[in-house]
Amino acid sequence: MTTLESDDIQHILLTRAPAMTGRYEFLSFKSAAGGRAWLSAIMEKVHSAKAMRESVAQDKRWVTVAFTFNGLRALGVDDASLATFPEEFRQGMVARAEMLGDTGANHPSHWTDKTSSPDLHAIVILFARDAAERDRCVSEHAKLIANCQDVEVLSTLDLEATPPFEYAHDHFGYRDRLSQPAIEGAGDAPTPGSGAPLKAGEFILGYPDENGHITLPQPESLTRNGSFMAYRRMDEHVGRFRDFLREHGKTPEEQELVAAKLMGRWRSGAPLVLAPEKDDPALGADPQRNNDFNYKQQDPQGYAVPLGSHIRRMNPRDTGANMSRRRMIRRGATYGPALPEGAAEDGVERGIAAFVICASLVRQFEFAQNVWANDKNFHELGNERDPIIGNQDGTLEYKIPKRPIRKKITGLPAFTTVRGGAYFFLPGLKALRHLASLS
Ligand code: HEM
Repeated sequence: MTTLESDDIQHILLTRAPAMTGRYEFLSFKSAAGGRAWLSAIMEKVHSAKAMRESVAQDKRWVTVAFTFNGLRALGVDDASLATFPEEFRQGMVARAEMLGDTGANHPSHWTDKTSSPDLHAIVILFARDAAERDRCVSEHAKLIANCQDVEVLSTLDLEATPPFEYAHDHFGYRDRLSQPAIEGAGDAPTPGSGAPLKAGEFILGYPDENGHITLPQPESLTRNGSFMAYRRMDEHVGRFRDFLREHGKTPEEQELVAAKLMGRWRSGAPLVLAPEKDDPALGADPQRNNDFNYKQQDPQGYAVPLGSHIRRMNPRDTGANMSRRRMIRRGATYGPALPEGAAEDGVERGIAAFVICASLVRQFEFAQNVWANDKNFHELGNERDPIIGNQDGTLEYKIPKRPIRKKITGLPAFTTVRGGAYFFLPGLKALRHLASLS
């Protein structure tokens, strides 16, 4: 059994902070010395996974630091080392736009948060227990930046949980944070249906992966206990989504069913495989039951969960090939104010600002975007993309299998738009010290 160096792995990789709010700051270093001075000061505030677990009850804020390829170079990582990082990370998300489905309205030329800029070097992620703590940290960080020469804030994003606050959910109202891969050695017992724990090397550099390989760009002092993160900021068009539900469902019950069919789960979180006809909120809230299903035996035709729904695409479970090599850790939060029920679309930006964490961006995140989300013929569906995150241009369909006649929705609108994104390297704690001490 692998022992994870959880005192060296950044907390975000293995744990989820109990944060109600937070902020991302996107930074650029005008000089290596300035970047290193900033890093030397902030790295003391970064929790390891072990430290986070030990003091989570009393802590109020959790900090994560990660770098783009250009950021590693800006801090002074030499060319020989940079050349050992994977191709897709070296190119960055913008160069991969077409393959990721970031075309049309989703294209990086429309992103307004400067994450598409080659000057983007680092992200600092703050998760805070409450707004007062966030404000305190934000002003502390502003002071640090003011004291460091040559560090510029390109943009920021404030995070807010959406009401009701009892459980995590997105602006469309779907309960989230239900399904995560279990990692061998991480110490968490997998909930029923999560699958056997996967080798740590699927998510953390320096450990054997499912094929027994250890991936480690050089030098090890920079990469061991690190990982890669794909950042996605996606606006959710809540007014459009609710209009769509009303258009396709006559009663509130029918509208809930349409919402469930797009996701594969009721908005309560209850999986359609286990509750095909009627919502079951107690099931949705129960981690011992809400993942305990498969597709091959329990719903091969998609009569419960349409083949094209978001969760069936993003984790085809026992109907997918090579699944142990394609799982992803999901972290992040919602941003923007909730749109009150019954209110008209107000044009205010709101959505999900998420991180997909994996050891191989190309094998895990990019495959999910390219094939699962955006291949029109995935599962032989013909003319469909993921109804939540696929690139929708209004010409595609969504099929809901049903006996005796299936329902086919044509002209599916885009419920989300990509507003920002980047690839980051998430170093371990010792590696942060290595970076800060480069000369
Ligand atoms: C606005 C954007 C998105 C929304 C609203 C959204 C919403 C959701 C919700 C509500 C769930 C069900 C809860 C759960 O199973 O934990 C889910 C599951 C999932 N999503 Fe997303 N998601 C979004 C973007 C993404 C992206 C960009 C990816 C990766 C490329 C992704 C990958 C997944 C995966 C892997 C699962 C778990 C499926 C399973 O294991 O059954 N999602 N998402």
